Amino acid sequence: MKGIILAGGSGTRLYPLTKAISKQMLPIYDKPMIYYPLATLMKSNIREILIISTPRDIGSYKELLGDGSRFGISLSYKIQAKPKGIADAFIVGKQFIGKSSVALILGDNVFYGEKLNSILQRVVKRKKGATIFGYGVKDPTHYGVVGFDNKSNVVSIEEKPKNPKSNFAVPGLYFYDNNVISVAENIQPSNRNELEITDVNRVYMEQNKLKVEILEEGISWFDTGTYQGLLNAANFVETIQKEQRIYIACIEEIAYKKGYINKHQLLKLAESMIKTEYGQYLKNILER
Ligand code: DAU
Repeated sequence: MKGIILAGGSGTRLYPLTKAISKQMLPIYDKPMIYYPLATLMKSNIREILIISTPRDIGSYKELLGDGSRFGISLSYKIQAKPKGIADAFIVGKQFIGKSSVALILGDNVFYGEKLNSILQRVVKRKKGATIFGYGVKDPTHYGVVGFDNKSNVVSIEEKPKNPKSNFAVPGLYFYDNNVISVAENIQPSNRNELEITDVNRVYMEQNKLKVEILEEGISWFDTGTYQGLLNAANFVETIQKEQRIYIACIEEIAYKKGYINKHQLLKLAESMIKTEYGQYLKNILER
């Protein structure tokens, strides 16, 4: 399976923060936001990843992450000329996807939880259909929302409904078979003139090919597209890292633990930022 990180958009909901820089480049505590979705894909054992961003911002992602070889993965880049919608990622990424299945993660979505890793590694192996997630929230009206019948079958999926049919929001992490390209090519733009990911998911639901996995206790999800979301995620990362002494979304550590890079390569990455706690943390991994 291949992976796509969607890291474009206009970012106007975070103005003036994002007037001159890309939202997914903003810090979540000690790392650029894009490290978090990248780590989620790496934890799903996905090593071939496409980063999609705007004509203005694509260069800074290349500068930050390069071709991925430092982390033992392959990164490529593609421009989305206009923010035509989340589902446009499959059209922009058509060549990259080729005949493969594909996971899409939104560049502003942060996931955390030990239990999540086994879920991701299971989902990534599915050959057919689509898998999305449901996450219980107080106010689901800002998200895609799934509705269930009394046997827990998904019976509706709506984008930002005024009267949501459940409290389960759909986080920005989606797994699809190769049909997703033609599904995305055949949906129509919504009232806000975007190709909606929710419409793609509805097509899979109507074909009985949509699985919804509920992310339960012990798994945290943040949509960092608002000031509050940004701050909540940063506070969460700081607390976990200080209290538990484990780093969230440490892509260098993930690469090492998965055997994508060796000790020597990890040491080199650590030394490039040895004046920071981050660099020290990486060095300590080798001494453990
Ligand atoms: O975060 C989860 C929610 O994300 C889902 O529950 C919704 O179903 C889904 O539509 C989406 O809603 P948002 O309103 O949060 O999407 P937003 O427009 O903020 O875009 C999400 C990310 O994708 C953001 O980092 C910018 C990027 N993006 C968005 C669009 C529309 C692009 O790179 N290109 C685009 O054309």
